[in-house]
Order: sequence, then C-alpha cells, then structure tokens
Amino acid sequence: MPSIHHHISTLRAALNSYRGQQDSKQCIALVPTMGNLHEGHLELVKLAKQHADIVVVSIFVNPTQFGVGEDFDSYPRTLDADVAKLATVDADYVFAPSIDEMYPVLPPPTSVRAGEITTQLCGQSRPNHFDGVGIVVSKLFNIVQPEVAVFGQKDYQQLAIIQQIVRDLSYPIEIIGAPIVRAADGLALSSRNQYLTEDERNIAPVLHQELQRLAEQLMQGQHLEQGLAPLLTETRARITEADFKIDYLEVKTAQLDSLETDGASASFDGNQQELVILVAAWLGRARLLDNQLVTVKLP
Ligand code: PAJ
Repeated sequence: MPSIHHHISTLRAALNSYRGQQDSKQCIALVPTMGNLHEGHLELVKLAKQHADIVVVSIFVNPTQFGVGEDFDSYPRTLDADVAKLATVDADYVFAPSIDEMYPVLPPPTSVRAGEITTQLCGQSRPNHFDGVGIVVSKLFNIVQPEVAVFGQKDYQQLAIIQQIVRDLSYPIEIIGAPIVRAADGLALSSRNQYLTEDERNIAPVLHQELQRLAEQLMQGQHLEQGLAPLLTETRARITEADFKIDYLEVKTAQLDSLETDGASASFDGNQQELVILVAAWLGRARLLDNQLVTVKLP
C-alpha cells in the first residue's frame, strides 16, 4: 500500500531520505491528480514508474481552479478507493492535503499566470482556471521537488501551460506527456464522465468519432482547396446534432499557436505540419474535453 501523507512537513521528511548522497540518490516522480482515479490516471502512474524509483501521487481537489458555479462541491471525492487503486500500480506515496494545508490564505495573494496561452480555448469560458492550475502545480513541484512529473495529453492545453511554466520558472523537472486513455468505444476517460446519464453516455463517443473524421479529412488534404472553415462548420454541425453544446472546436498548431488564417495553406510550413484539433463540449451536466493530433501533408 502507498504511504499516505496529509501534511507537507511529513511528506518532505519522508522524501528527503531519498535525496541523500549521489550514489544513494533515488529519482522521484510526481503525478498530480484531483482523485476519483480511473485507468487514465493509473497509466500516468505506470509511466512515472518507468522513469523514476519513487512515485508520489497527489490527490487534491484544488479550489482555486474552479470558477463560481462550477462543480467544486460536487466533484467526486473517493480517497479510500483511490488509494486501493494506487496500490495495484505500486505508487509509493499519496499526498492528500487539506485546503488549509495547501492554502494558508485563500484565495492566495500570490499568483502564477502563464499569460496568453491561458486565455484561449478553455481559458475563454473558464477565465481563472489556469491561474489556479498554475499555482497548485507550482506548489506541488516545490513540496515534492520531483525530477519527473507526468501529465495527460487529454488536457492538452494544461500540459502545454505546465511545460511553459517549467521553462519560464526554471524548474529542474522533466515533464512527460502521457497518451489519452479511452474507453472501448473511444470516449476519453474522465472523472466527469460519471455526470452522464445512460443515454448521454451512449452519445458521448460521437465527440471522438468526429475528431477522427476531421483528422481524416485533413490528412486527405480536404482543407487545401477551401480552407478549414467549411470542415469546421460541418464538424460543429454534426456534434451539435448529436445533442452537445459546443464550447469550442478549433484547429491549432501542436504548440497551440493559431493558424494564421482560417483559409487554405497560408500558415503551413514546409511539406507537413503537426496540428491538433481541440474540442470542449457540454453533454448534459458534463463538460467533455478531447483532442486529436494530426500530421497534415502538403503537396
Ligand atoms: P485530473 O483531472 O484529476 O487529472 C490528473 C491527470 O490525469 C492530468 O494530467 C490529466 O491530463 C490526466 N488524465 C485524466 N484523464 C486522462 C485520460 N483519459 N488519459 C490520460 N490522462 C488523463 O488535471 C487535473 O486533475 C488538475 O488540473 C491538476 C493537474 C491535478 C491540478 O489540480
């Protein structure tokens, strides 16, 4: 069973024993989560195990990344079940702090803002969300001081923001992005999937199917004649028809830069370019996120 810590001081004391002399030093990995763990989280832990001797999983439903009216109160908290799951993948430590332990003053007067990258995509409808992610992840990095930290590509924008924070604040941490884990029908696993009714759960895989269809169209070069706009309009219509309310559907470069025009190949560089299709859409009470990387070949 992993060893559980609720306090920063005891976790630090436990981890310090691995940091000793160069020859006895062990590599520590951190996997930050908000708990209610599923197979997607467990894959992150397995990946972390491949890169480190000691894996610390944090479980903290972080209040600063939830907006007013969002699901902070109803977010599922299942610590005992989470710890049992983490035992099956050999996690070494669970850090499950209280809100007071993490935030002596709430909201914290200090902020970690990653700038422009946080205002697009999810940042449009969740304006302070990534500031909350920025401060909590920075705190976790300082508390655990890992050599490696693993994040899922499912939250593509979050991963890009964390890579930027690590670069800009010179954290000596290697960030590893883990592939999206999906249910058999293609729906990306998420703690929020449990908000779906049975009917909605049957509809939910449409999101992934439509991203795949659009990726296929881009791979075939269908954007070259009329640009992306008609393809995006068609995809949006199909997703809306399936009963989703779209927050955004966008195509960006893999670095999340905008394509210069919505038109043909103006911003495409060389013979091929890696793009990412990103979507956020509501289905009933659940806001679902997904994305799909696609390499677009040019003639
Ligand atoms: P949470 O939603 O619990 O996700 C924790 C980590 O699991 C994130 O890195 C997320 O991208 C990854 N993850 C979730 N579902 C996944 C899936 N289906 N496949 C692969 N990875 C998946 O993201 C957060 O928590 C928080 O914002 C956090 C980073 C912990 C800061 O509070």
